[in-house]
Amino acid sequence: MADLLKNPGDLVLLSKYVSEACGIHLGEEKGYLFQSRLGSIVAQTGADDIPAFIRLAKADTTGKLRDKIVDAMTTHETYWFRDERVWSAVENSLLPLVAQRAKAANRARVRIFSAACSTGQEPYSLAMLIDTLSKQGKLSGYTAQQFEIVASDVSAGTLMLASVGRYNQIEIVRGLAEKWRSVYFKPANSTTWQLDEAIRKRVTFKRYNLQDDLRPLGMFDLLLCRNVAIYFEENFKRELFRRISEIIHPGGYLMLGGTESLLTHTDLFERDLQGGSIFYKRK
Ligand SMILES: C[S@@+](CC[C@H](N)C(=O)[O-])C[C@H]1O[C@@H](n2cnc3c(N)ncnc32)[C@H](O)[C@@H]1O
Repeated sequence: MADLLKNPGDLVLLSKYVSEACGIHLGEEKGYLFQSRLGSIVAQTGADDIPAFIRLAKADTTGKLRDKIVDAMTTHETYWFRDERVWSAVENSLLPLVAQRAKAANRARVRIFSAACSTGQEPYSLAMLIDTLSKQGKLSGYTAQQFEIVASDVSAGTLMLASVGRYNQIEIVRGLAEKWRSVYFKPANSTTWQLDEAIRKRVTFKRYNLQDDLRPLGMFDLLLCRNVAIYFEENFKRELFRRISEIIHPGGYLMLGGTESLLTHTDLFERDLQGGSIFYKRK
């Protein structure tokens, strides 16, 4: 479809549909994104215009068209140990502290949730770090197997890629130092690298929409919600962080993206400086 947005109301319709499907707010200035990311999907359905396309999406009880639209309109940018300085604080301060608190609370397992994991680099960075730290005896006696890492995303396509744990040459070098790659990856063929099977299996991937009730996931010692809330509207952000607070143990931690802050959204957490980086402690 050469010109996707023929009428002024088209952008409003698309924007509303995407916001209802996954909470992502794309204003009028983002018309070019709809044009570039949805053009071929609209063409495949044969819909003549955007109102017809939205009607098809709403009528599709399989949810497949909705998934395609969500996959296309979400931004999946991610890389290993994203924000190096913060991850160094995770390694040296946060994870040992989280383990220490879980031990003090007599928990048999330490539970961590990567709430919008994209293609898996975030939860697998955690899994590699936990594996190394537990072998160094820095996690209060917990073994790596006693850490449960749950990772979710609304996008079925990215979750599928994440669960395989295979990365191409461009993906593998982004943020991943040689010391990690040499220990935890093997070449799968001339262009891709496969994550160690034991590390891959330590992450459980679940399709989850952050708009849904999070409580069925259970309680967590640490929750990562990084570089996703930036796409949500203010009201939804406030509501999301309130719901997130319900699934973090009191004294447990929330980790945001390197440039994100929580203070204007909720007073259910307090800022906590660990290893020179800011994390948010559940009150
Ligand atoms: C920019 S990536 C961030 C990935 C990783 N957390 C990081 O910081 O590198 C944002 C991810 O959030 C996911 N996402 C967007 N809306 C979501 C929602 N409502 N529920 C769950 N995940 C969502 C997208 O599919 C995408 O994979």
